[in-house]
Amino acid sequence: MTLAIDARGLGKVFGAGALAFRALDAVDFQVTPGELVMLVGPSGSGKTTLLSILGCVLTATEGELRLFGERVSGRPERELPLLRRALIGFVFQGHNLIGALSARDNVRLVLESRGTTAHAARAEADALLAAVGLADKRDRLPAELSGGQRQRVAIARALAGAPPLVLADEPTAALDAHAGLEVTELLTRMCRERGTTVVVVTHDNRIFHLADRIVHIEDGRIVDGRLSGVAA
Ligand SMILES: Nc1ncnc2c1ncn2[C@@H]1O[C@H](COP(=O)(O)OP(=O)(O)OP(=O)(O)O)[C@@H](O)[C@H]1O
Ligand SMILES: [Mg+2]
Repeated sequence: MTLAIDARGLGKVFGAGALAFRALDAVDFQVTPGELVMLVGPSGSGKTTLLSILGCVLTATEGELRLFGERVSGRPERELPLLRRALIGFVFQGHNLIGALSARDNVRLVLESRGTTAHAARAEADALLAAVGLADKRDRLPAELSGGQRQRVAIARALAGAPPLVLADEPTAALDAHAGLEVTELLTRMCRERGTTVVVVTHDNRIFHLADRIVHIEDGRIVDGRLSGVAA
């Protein structure tokens, strides 16, 4: 079986010399296609760093990373945006929507950047916004939406173009318990329907039951939650 994520011995050192800081140390992290993994750990443990490397935003200083069999580590940095566009949708803690654009245009922009024609992008954006329950809000600006609604737009945007991997960094952090659970349920349902592989960084134990597996990270190391049955 080709793994969705196959990271072996990943390390990340920020800075150099006396200022060098090791944020990740010999991380092995494997995720099967369609799996939904939650990554948990204390503040500063390396969750965002790991997610950023998986998302082809940061490069590791050591180790090997393959996404769906495609080698990521060792590629020139200029090729990373291409891989990112082809493979990955992101949901951020602070939604990161473009404030001057409507919900629809935020989603459309991603599709058009992937080469979808304007007409098709508009139709797909509307379908995605309907799927997240925001058909009536598609012309609203992010500032005119509630926190939960903004995260729904962010989910629609992350799923636009049907990337096989969705990475979410504390998507419920800005929400109350009820909205946080609702948004995570939506994200997991849509990803399961599409067979999308998902990694969610979270502190929120109220959403743990939605995961197939919980992986714990401490001081840049995975301490629990390795995939069973995958040879090291
Ligand atoms: N660009 C950087 N330069 C130097 N150190 C960094 C950089 N980015 C992160 N770090 C350090 O790496 C460690 C891990 O950071 P990271 O953001 O991955 O933690 P986290 O687990 O996501 O924490 P939180 O739960 O607070 O978001 C921290 O000690 C942080 O200070
Ligand atoms: Mg973080």
